Amino acid sequence: MRIPLIAANWKMHKNPAGTTSFFRSFLPLVESAVHCEIVICPSFLDVETAVAAGRGTRVRIGAQNLYWEKEGAFTGEISGPMIKAAGCSHVIVGHSERRRYFGETDAGVLKKTVAAFDAGLTPIVCVGERQEKNAAATLAEQFRGGIAGLSDEQFAAIVIGYEPVWAIGDGETATPAVAADAHQCIRAQAKERFGAAAANQLRILYGGSVKPDNAGKLLAEPEIDGFLVGGASLDPVSFAELVNFQTDVHAGHA
Ligand code: 13P
Repeated sequence: MRIPLIAANWKMHKNPAGTTSFFRSFLPLVESAVHCEIVICPSFLDVETAVAAGRGTRVRIGAQNLYWEKEGAFTGEISGPMIKAAGCSHVIVGHSERRRYFGETDAGVLKKTVAAFDAGLTPIVCVGERQEKNAAATLAEQFRGGIAGLSDEQFAAIVIGYEPVWAIGDGETATPAVAADAHQCIRAQAKERFGAAAANQLRILYGGSVKPDNAGKLLAEPEIDGFLVGGASLDPVSFAELVNFQTDVHAGHA
């Protein structure tokens, strides 16, 4: 069985004080959430605060981006080993906002994913179509360019985040059936390239306007192994609700 994972992507929100207060409210609310992994990805500047606040709990910390070189004259960049040394276990790679606003390409996503793996981080590699109708072709292209070049060992270490760009941020969620179709499409690519066992182990998270009131229906799809949550993860109560929801659903299957 694939262990569910729920990840918060705080994007460019919060500061150390806001991070501390989030953890103070959030941690007591998820004490019984033992059936899923919880990862919080704050801004780089809040990683230290988040790592300290999460120490001794089940909450892991991730970064939102990395550069593929280990060190050097790359002003403004942060490397995998730096992120690892700061206490992170995960890193988001190739988020659609990075692709859209910062020119990230599938080739760059592949290099970053390998760099994350080399640093001992779990990459959460994001894919997703811009327009609703192009899903299968876009996912195939992103898989070919950004993921197929991994070795078997590297592939076994990644998590994929499926985030249809049209569903991010504006409250328009993909229906559970649309999301499940896209996940199947990704899993089929994985099977073709890495084999059935590896594809079956692969965790695929759904992201795009996930909220406590639509999470249940999405999680009822066996293809959906968890969530990558933006807006609703900023509030400790709603994010805890999502975590506990997930725990309840999967506890029922356990
Ligand atoms: P929202 O949950 O705000 O739609 O953001 C999704 C996302 O981009 C998470 O990475």
